[in-house]
Amino acid sequence: MTLDLTLSDATTDSKPAKTLPDAQTVTAVKHWTDSLFSFRVTRPASLRFRSGEFVMIGLEGDNGKPLLRAYSIASPNWDDELEFYSIKVQDGPLTSKLQHIQRGDQIILRPKPVGTLVLDALLPGKRLWFLATGTGIAPFASLMRDPETYERYEQVVMMHTCRTAGELEYGRELVENLKHDPLLGELYGEEFASRLLYYPTTTREDSPLMGRITDNLTSGKVFQDLSLPPMSVENDRAMICGSLAFNVDVKAVLEGFGLEEGANSEPKQFVVEKAFVGEGV
Ligand code: FAD
Ligand code: A2P
Repeated sequence: MTLDLTLSDATTDSKPAKTLPDAQTVTAVKHWTDSLFSFRVTRPASLRFRSGEFVMIGLEGDNGKPLLRAYSIASPNWDDELEFYSIKVQDGPLTSKLQHIQRGDQIILRPKPVGTLVLDALLPGKRLWFLATGTGIAPFASLMRDPETYERYEQVVMMHTCRTAGELEYGRELVENLKHDPLLGELYGEEFASRLLYYPTTTREDSPLMGRITDNLTSGKVFQDLSLPPMSVENDRAMICGSLAFNVDVKAVLEGFGLEEGANSEPKQFVVEKAFVGEGV
């Protein structure tokens, strides 16, 4: 997949190509499973975003028009490049093609970041929970790498659930690397690693930790395993990102703990965003 651009044109942010004004160059691609991959692209010099936001990205469609989809930026806002974590949908208009991108290829990126999963949409608290299934971990891959998150919260808990262990690998490696991150270590000292708690579970394959996020919250298992008190309005804040059904069910669980949904315009105790729009929704 190579679009109608020379590499040298595309790598110069200040000289956008005529045919593809929002082109960015792919700098790295990694395939995690048959259905998941991540990739990095050049960052437009003018792009500012808040960690956790999403943008529209895509490719030129067969009709010559941009074929765009919403994607969470998985990299933190200080990164020179942008990272994305993507599903491969077999017959998906975009991802059936996007999964074949290679280093040096071009993608389209509309530089207008938006989204509800931002730190400013939450009231201050002690502990921040990231609750995700599947590619819903992408916005939290950004927020977990942003020092501002640890500036605001004493503890960060990343709960990520997938059907199989292989699907957890992107998040597992990211958290592992973060625990030895020189920037965060320098800012917050050796105890930084103990402030980021990771709770990966599978539901359809055996792994050390099992079960749906909803079940592990309502049974209290996650609190016991991590030696944490149950969620409270005073201390706990949360961000939810998964399928519509997941979001609805987790929202009800959090409301059961007394937490209320907030927004950019009215910060409260938790915020929600869809990881994708399902068929017929
Ligand atoms: P589409 O026609 O868009 O989707 C076909 C079907 O595939 C959907 O109906 C749904 O059932 C399923 N599907 C689509 N995306 C996913 C997914 N991520 N996980 C599981 N099933 C899915 N996708 C990402 O891979 N990474 C992201 O960071 C990401 N961020 C998003 C942020 C927002 C706010 C929204 C609304 C969507 C996001 N998506 C993300 C989904 C993305 O926009 C596309 O739907 C996805 O890239 C598939 O595009 P497609 O054209 O191949 O298929
Ligand atoms: P399960 O295997 O028990 O359905 P999916 O691939 O269907 O989007 O699911 C991704 C992960 O999210 C799976 O581990 C799945 O568990 C879990 N999940 C799906 N729907 C919900 C829900 N409504 N509440 C909690 N977890 C869910």
